Amino acid sequence: MEINLPKGTHDVILDEARAYEKIETLFKAVADLYGFSELRTPIIEATELFTRSVGDSSDIVRKEMYTFKDKGDRSITLRPELTAGVMRSIVNNKLFATQDLPIKVYYLGPAFRYERPQLGRYRQFNQFGVESVGITSPLSDAEVIMMGYAALKMLGFGHITLKINTLGDDESRKAYRVALKEYFGKHLDKMCPDCHERYESNPLRILDCKVPEDIEIVKKAPKISDYLTEAAQESFEFVLATLANFDIKYEVDESLVRGLDYYSHVVFEFHYTTEAGVSLGALGAGGHYDNLVSELGGPALSGVGLAFGIERIYGVLENDKLLQDVKEETDFYVMPLGDNALLDAYMIAQALRGAGYRTEVCFENKGFKTLFKRAEHKGSKYAVIIGDTEMQAEQVTLKNLKTQEQITVKYADLIDKADQLFAVEDDHDHH
Ligand code: HAM
Repeated sequence: MEINLPKGTHDVILDEARAYEKIETLFKAVADLYGFSELRTPIIEATELFTRSVGDSSDIVRKEMYTFKDKGDRSITLRPELTAGVMRSIVNNKLFATQDLPIKVYYLGPAFRYERPQLGRYRQFNQFGVESVGITSPLSDAEVIMMGYAALKMLGFGHITLKINTLGDDESRKAYRVALKEYFGKHLDKMCPDCHERYESNPLRILDCKVPEDIEIVKKAPKISDYLTEAAQESFEFVLATLANFDIKYEVDESLVRGLDYYSHVVFEFHYTTEAGVSLGALGAGGHYDNLVSELGGPALSGVGLAFGIERIYGVLENDKLLQDVKEETDFYVMPLGDNALLDAYMIAQALRGAGYRTEVCFENKGFKTLFKRAEHKGSKYAVIIGDTEMQAEQVTLKNLKTQEQITVKYADLIDKADQLFAVEDDHDHH
């Protein structure tokens, strides 16, 4: 009996996996350029980590977590995002005491949310993200946004929309909260049951409600911009001015509040619309946080970070044919002609692999036509042909599969010859 995938999950197959690898490698390289180092945290965490950080008023915590009791009766959750785990790790390992500030880390791995699966929305998906913790300058916020923007450009995106907003500091949000309670208090009887809960726990969450009738009410709600303290306003303007200085276009979107509770000050999302007019939702998003580290038992350090969704990035890159060179490639395809040649073929393949060449060898006794077809499927640059005549002379026929040029090379000289050929190729690549 065939067993199906759990709903909302997906396999990443061959060329697609190569594309993921390429995207991830590029993200890591850009993070490295900007001075971030990798941090790996567990996929399972104590449930309390997320209720305390992502927040018990968020949809993620209220409805979307994979939470279970382990055999020791502890409440465990599959991480719905990676920021919380990174902060826990910074606190547990006292990185703020041993590292210079800001602590700059990047991470990559699966996250789990029990959402309704749809285009660009999975229950298991992969995030690449960065966090910069321990500096209060809004320049740090701008740097993270610029890094994200640079990464998307390097992936080949021609146009990206950067939506940006501020949620202000604690004082701004306190005043805003009072204003929201007053406004929504007058409309609550017409609003959805979730919004009733949000009204009590965190009225800011109402701004994110997806119920059409509620969206209409939200449209006329007070705006955060009217409640910002002077300092919060200044900090936001500084970020915007820095982005403008570096020619990064943004749209201030006052309806952007983000679905996680830990933000203050700047929040942002990167969006992209494919040539066919399709959007998979935000490709990546993030923002500044002031209380996350202290909430998790650490010192009062602010931070800023962002995370990209690898599935969404792959989806739109693939859609607009922006991904190149993700086909399988090998350097040599070794072809034994007849069973006699099998052992020599294998020996030669091992020698090539030992010298660092991607090599595939055919284990079966096949005709030329099949062998060349397979070499092509493997994206091979050269064919190494070994038949009885070649074996007797301890040599191979080496064929360049692009130019069809063919030479004979002694077994003993093959690695030197390969080094020569590939040195010339590298040289060409550089011009
Ligand atoms: P988020 O907006 O919840 O933020 O997720 C970041 C990105 O993950 C989204 O923009 C999207 O590309 C991807 N993503 C989210 N949910 C799904 C899903 N169900 N299927 C596919 N992709 C998805 C965070 O997670 C924050 N931790 C970002 C951050 C880092 N803020 C500060 N530091």
